[in-house]
Amino acid sequence: MLEMEDSIFTKEANEMGTASMTETLTAPIIVHSQHTTEDPTLTFAKDVLKGLNESPKRLSSVYFYDERGSQIFEKICDLDEYYLTRKETEILEKYASEIISDLPLNTHLVELGSGSSRKTRILLETALARFNLIRYSPIDVSAEILEKTSRNLTQRYAELQVEAIAGRYEFGIDHILQHSHGPNCIMWLGSSIGNLTRQEAAKFLVGIRQRMKKNDCLLLGIDLRKGPDILEPAYDDTRGVTADFNLNLLDRINGELGGQFSRDHFQHKAVYDVDEGRIEMYLVSDLDQDIKIENIDTSVSFEKGEHILTEYSYKYSHAEIKALADDSGFRLERQWLDESGWFSLNAFKPRNTMHEMHAL
Ligand code: AVI
Repeated sequence: MLEMEDSIFTKEANEMGTASMTETLTAPIIVHSQHTTEDPTLTFAKDVLKGLNESPKRLSSVYFYDERGSQIFEKICDLDEYYLTRKETEILEKYASEIISDLPLNTHLVELGSGSSRKTRILLETALARFNLIRYSPIDVSAEILEKTSRNLTQRYAELQVEAIAGRYEFGIDHILQHSHGPNCIMWLGSSIGNLTRQEAAKFLVGIRQRMKKNDCLLLGIDLRKGPDILEPAYDDTRGVTADFNLNLLDRINGELGGQFSRDHFQHKAVYDVDEGRIEMYLVSDLDQDIKIENIDTSVSFEKGEHILTEYSYKYSHAEIKALADDSGFRLERQWLDESGWFSLNAFKPRNTMHEMHAL
């Protein structure tokens, strides 16, 4: 997942349209990764074919986020049951000054999977008050969201320099850390790390650590282990928004690959596995059925009650967070919690020398 690849980038200042360099000094720059990748629909088709032929069947949660899926996810973040966004925002609002004052002067703020950068604004405003002028680099695979967010941010904050990277995280981090002379803080909020297995998470962080210098830091939002009474409703809300988010995967297969799934014949299910410390999301077939997916020339059989695994969302204990830092070449420098102790924001600092890191 994190192997180094050749990154080729182009810079296109002001390519989002209206603003020009003469109108504002802080017009955002969008850097597009030009690494030649496979056609996304072909990659989706291959993954669907492979996943639905596995036993048990599975589909990757990365495919939740088409345009409609991203809109539903924004709605999830506002749900009463989905406490994660609220608790992380509480931490950011309460501790922003402390978090920012821990950073060296003129730290470049980098954000993975920034989306609408809603929560990040709290940190940006605090950083602007402290450093006067700051550099902010959101990295996201969706160029459309980045362009919209970057334009909004530069219109709102005159002293914010935005250099956004449209592409995979590895490309973005490589580009930024290779071109940066000062300290960097990489932020990965929202407990997105939870959607990786524990092993994948450690591997991903090792990859980030290998690209970092000793003055850089990583700010990680991580959801904590808690009882199924709180976790299961967070992933199976009464209004059915999360069910819609999950079922949207089937609509996506229908729309992009000529699938013939019917939403009426699949049920959303979310269960918490206490031992593994993870929410598991499934789509469960209501009946015996054969579903054609025309563009990939296949038909998939389901038995009544058979499920497709669509997402893991791992939760961490304090000891697991510390171990994650240790195993990936960091040390847990500071941790902030919300009042109820449900969610954590963690500052990881590089621990080992680069030499030791290559051995990891
Ligand atoms: C994006 N990610 C951190 C969310 C989570 O909580 O695992 C995705 C999500 N799935 C269902 N609800 C939210």
